[in-house]
Amino acid sequence: MLNIAIDGPVGAGKSTIADEVASRLGILHLDTGAMYRAVGLAVLQHSIDLQDEEAVTALCKQSQVDVRYENGSQVTLLDGQDVTGLIRSQEVGTAASAVSRYAGVRRLLVQRQQELAKTQPMLLDGRDIGTVVLPNAPVKIYLTATPEARAMRRLKQLQEKGDTADFAEVLAEVNARDEQDMNRAVDPLRQAEDAIVVDSSDLTFEETVQAILRLTEAANA
Ligand code: DC
Repeated sequence: MLNIAIDGPVGAGKSTIADEVASRLGILHLDTGAMYRAVGLAVLQHSIDLQDEEAVTALCKQSQVDVRYENGSQVTLLDGQDVTGLIRSQEVGTAASAVSRYAGVRRLLVQRQQELAKTQPMLLDGRDIGTVVLPNAPVKIYLTATPEARAMRRLKQLQEKGDTADFAEVLAEVNARDEQDMNRAVDPLRQAEDAIVVDSSDLTFEETVQAILRLTEAANA
């Protein structure tokens, strides 16, 4: 099964790069962060305390987080509702990072991701794909960039959406998210031993896509 694992910190461009690489390879892209975001959104909607592990885990068990594909693009569903747009806010991102610390939440979502990846060749992006979700993936990439380069990209994305954030604020957010994602007790973000690092700090979008496609070809040769 041609499964590709891409992990890396926030703002490294994983989602857009993964979308493009998957589309050029003619396979589906599963954005696993969207699933944690859907749980984060559910917690916010139910006004549950993000620090309350038991209540968050119970809600995750009750909630139906699913994905479906429309013209090759992922649509993320929470209890049957399309939440693809709703989960993109900064607030939901922070909630996603908080709920992703909990073992019960991770167990449920990892299982769902593994089921999906079994059905067809897929590219999965996240934080623990190469280490936990698909430890036997034939291609593992750790896509990263300096915190400053990531904050600059994030800032541009936010500005395009009309958000008024400034660089220092976004950089602080990137550093806080790295800290939370890399230091949580359960399945923290780390590079799998057999993953290849792609540092996109000084690469254009196309150069990054090409670098990953070359690594994919090399692994399948
Ligand atoms: O990639 P993203 O920013 O959409 O992910 C949101 C949060 O979800 C991120 O801060 C950490 C968490 N996450 C995770 O723990 N494991 C994954 N495989 C994907 C995301």
